[in-house]
Amino acid sequence: MKLDVILGLQWGDEGKGKIVDVLAPEYDVIARFQGGPNAGHSLSFGDVRHVLHNIPSGVFHRNIINIIGNGVIIDPVIFMKECETLVKMGIEPVKSIFISRKAHLILPSHRMMDCVQEQSKGISKIGSTLKGIGPTYTDKVSRNGLRAGDIFSDDFQDKFAELTSKHLQCFAERPENWNETEENLKWMKGIEYLKNFRFINSEYIINQYLREGKTILAEGAQGTMLDIDFGSYPFVTSSNTICAGAYTGLGVAPGLAGKTFGVFKAYCTRVGSGPFPTEISGKTGELIQKLGGEFGATTGRPRRCGWLDLVALKYAVMINGVTGLVMTKADVLDDFDEIQVAVAYKQHGQILDYVPFGYDNSIEPVYKSFKGWKSDITGCTRQDQLPAGLKEYIRFLEDESGVPVIIVSVGQDRKQTVDLR
Ligand code: GDP
Ligand code: IMO
Ligand code: MG
Repeated sequence: MKLDVILGLQWGDEGKGKIVDVLAPEYDVIARFQGGPNAGHSLSFGDVRHVLHNIPSGVFHRNIINIIGNGVIIDPVIFMKECETLVKMGIEPVKSIFISRKAHLILPSHRMMDCVQEQSKGISKIGSTLKGIGPTYTDKVSRNGLRAGDIFSDDFQDKFAELTSKHLQCFAERPENWNETEENLKWMKGIEYLKNFRFINSEYIINQYLREGKTILAEGAQGTMLDIDFGSYPFVTSSNTICAGAYTGLGVAPGLAGKTFGVFKAYCTRVGSGPFPTEISGKTGELIQKLGGEFGATTGRPRRCGWLDLVALKYAVMINGVTGLVMTKADVLDDFDEIQVAVAYKQHGQILDYVPFGYDNSIEPVYKSFKGWKSDITGCTRQDQLPAGLKEYIRFLEDESGVPVIIVSVGQDRKQTVDLR
C-alpha cells in the first residue's frame, strides 16, 4: 500500500481533525507526523465535542491504531491529561496508541524558555502557543534532545537533570508563577504514565504495515503557511508541516506516496502574529469570527479572519502535491451577499501571482468577487443538494488549482459532510 497524507493548506485550524475523523473508517492506522500539543484538532459527533492535542484523530474509532510518529514532540503532562479524559469517555488509549521511540520530549524547561523567548521579542513576538515547541525542536536539531525511548534507560533522570540545568543556566528570567519543582514533579508523573504505552520503532512497523496491505493516513498538524521552510517565516512553527514532513516524520520513502488530501477553509484564518494579506478588519471580519466560532482550540485566542487567499492556496497545492482538496466551513458563508477571493497580490506597485520571498504587510490582495449562495447548507449530505452559487465557487477553485474538491464540510459534526468522490 501507499501512504496517504492529510494536511492543512493555510495557517492551521482548517478542520483537519474533523476530516481525519470522517476518513478514519477507511484506514487501519492514523499516524501523526509532526508538531506537538500546539495543535488543537476538534472532533464532533452526536453530543461529543472534543479537542485533541498530542493524540491522533483516529482515537474515537475502535480497531484503529493511532501512531505518534518520530517527527512529533510529546508533552507527557498534556498527553496524560488527554488520555485520562479519553478513559472517562470509555476509550482505551493504552490499547490503541503506539509511540515512536524517536519522538522527542517537551521538558518543563522548554515551555519556560518558550515563554521567556516570546516575552523578549516584544511587539515582534510570533504569537507562539507557549507549549515549548520551538525550544524542543531546537534541542532536537542541535542534538541535545531527550527522546521517548530514553525514558526506559537507567540514566534517564540524570539526562533530564543535565538538560534542565543547561536550560536554566542559559535563561536567567522565569515566567510569572513558575514553580520549577512542581513542574518537574508533574512531568515525572507524566513520564511514569507514558511507560504504560507501547513504544515502537515506528519506521519499521509502518513500513511493515504498508507491505502487509494495511491502509495508513498520515495526519498533519498546523498548516503549509506555518511550515518552517515554506511558511510566512519567521511567523511559523518549528517543523515541516508540508507533505514531505510526513515521509521524514514517519520514516516512509517518498516512492510510497499515495494520495495527499489538502484541507482548507472556504475563507482564511490565522491565530498569532504575522502577515495575513486577506485579513478583514471591522464588521465583516468580526462576523466571520462569530459565525465560524473562530477561537483557538489550544489557547482560546480569537482567530484573525479574512477572505480565501488563492495565491497562497495554489502555492500550498504545489508544495504538497495535493491530489484532492477538502473545503471546510463553507456553511459559515451561507448568509453573505458577496464573497471575495484573492486571485493575485499587489506589492510595491507590481502584480504578483506567486508567494514572494518578502512576505510581509506590504502585500495587498487583488480580489475577485462571487455572489453568495444565500442558503443554509448545514443539512446537505449529497452533491445535488449544494446550491448553484457554491458549486460555481468550487468549480472556480478547482479550475484555478488544477485539483478536484473531493469533500465539502458543511458543519462541525461528522455527519455534516458532503463526499464528492
Ligand atoms: P484543525 O486544527 O485543523 O483540526 O481545526 P480546529 O479544530 O482547530 O478548528 C476548526 C474548527 O471548525 C473546529 O471548531 C471545528 O469543529 C470546526 N469545523 C470543522 N469543519 C467545519 C465546518 O464545515 N463547518 C463549521 N461551521 N465548523 C467546522
Ligand atoms: P493546528 O494543528 C493554528 C501558530 C501559533 C503561532 C505559530 C508558532 O490546530 O492547526 P508554536 O506554538 O508552534 O511555536 O507557534 O504557529 N500555531 C497554530 N495556529 N493552528 C495550529 O495547529 C497551530 N500551531 C501553532 O499561533 O502563530
Ligand atoms: Mg486547530
